[in-house]
Amino acid sequence: MRPFFVDTLEQVLPRMNMTEQNTRGLAGVVAAETGLSFIDGAEGRLWYRGFDVHALAKHASYLESVYLLWYDALPAAIELSAFEGTLARQRALPPAVLDALRCLPADAAPMAALRTAVSALGQVDPEADDISHEADLRKAGRLVAQLPTIVATFDRFRRDLDLVDPDPELDHAANFLYMLSGTRPSETAARALDTSWLLYLEHGLNASTFTTRVVASTLADMHSAITAGISALKGPLHGGANEKAMEMLLEIGTAGSVPSFVDTALEQKQKIMGFGHRVYRTEDPRATHLRRMAEELSLEAGDSRWYDVSRRLEVEMFERKGLHCNVDFYCATVYYSLGLAIDLFTPLFAVGRTAGWAAHVMEQHMHNKLIRPRAEYTGELDRPWVPIDRR
Ligand code: CMC
Repeated sequence: MRPFFVDTLEQVLPRMNMTEQNTRGLAGVVAAETGLSFIDGAEGRLWYRGFDVHALAKHASYLESVYLLWYDALPAAIELSAFEGTLARQRALPPAVLDALRCLPADAAPMAALRTAVSALGQVDPEADDISHEADLRKAGRLVAQLPTIVATFDRFRRDLDLVDPDPELDHAANFLYMLSGTRPSETAARALDTSWLLYLEHGLNASTFTTRVVASTLADMHSAITAGISALKGPLHGGANEKAMEMLLEIGTAGSVPSFVDTALEQKQKIMGFGHRVYRTEDPRATHLRRMAEELSLEAGDSRWYDVSRRLEVEMFERKGLHCNVDFYCATVYYSLGLAIDLFTPLFAVGRTAGWAAHVMEQHMHNKLIRPRAEYTGELDRPWVPIDRR
């Protein structure tokens, strides 16, 4: 007689209401409801709260778009200025977080430093474990205000430079560039960074946003969710791609070297960073703006080298693989033209995306259902137990 606990996988699966079908990488799976953004991958369109990202990139600032995302309405002038003022007053870091950053090795990856500092902020936030909507909004505001300070502070510590206090008179992007370099940036530079943050702000259930929603769905707090989001963003298939794209452009060196670089990379089945997308089947609408900004910045600097290499690679990739570039590709050229260190590119993606992650945490907390999918089991069942002295 068969022992009662021995079952075949075929017998167990139907009882567990599981199918043997599995979607690799959850491609095409709808895993949450959101009112925050919508992507039309076939047409290459993106809306934040129903507003076309093209219109926002043309007319709005980053913080105006954050307000839109969090409050589901475009702010009136007085509301925007109150919102900007509240955030500007919260830019300084608590002493414990400054100490934590000071203790990190100078060769630590800035993305890892950011992850550590956001986690440390959660240790000292007076409302850390309050997940009411009001507290979530306040914590989201503090995080958006303080993340640029973390990036600038870590960078100055590692370069052994004195810290620069935030200037409440400067807007969000200009203040970051000022804290990083110690000099007031040009309007063009501040505007370019601000628009890049607007374009990075929100993008549906990408890997990092999904991560933050999973964490929030356990009713864990905002800082835990954002720390997890930063961790997910770090990888080269996601936010880490903007750094890898720039390293690749530097390796290619000249527009004339693009074809042979592509030959070798494709022959070796390497991914070309900054190309391809899980959702877009045509041009990523964010790339349209970053390409234009990259061109403008290179014309202004009188040096179009990196724009030319990027453009040639874009044409080559489309002709050979039918692949379009994504948001991270021209962002690399834009950030490089702004004189930013390459290992700050992904932290700056995180700076822009934090407000989007926070919006998802709030949405999840307001309509919570634990996110807990199942895995398709591919192992054996009921393997015979062997006592340790007989293995
Ligand atoms: N270079 C060369 N081939 C590529 C690339 C690329 N960048 N992207 C996709 N392909 C090919 C891939 O080799 C595969 O070909 P085949 O079917 O012959 O094996 C096919 O296209 C499908 O690729 P996939 O990796 O299975 O597609 P996915 O939807 O799982 O991956 C992706 C999407 C973004 C991870 C991928 O395109 C990729 O690795 N790109 C490079 C990294 C990158 O730029 N990441 C940023 C993503 S967008 C913004 C962000 O999240 O930060």
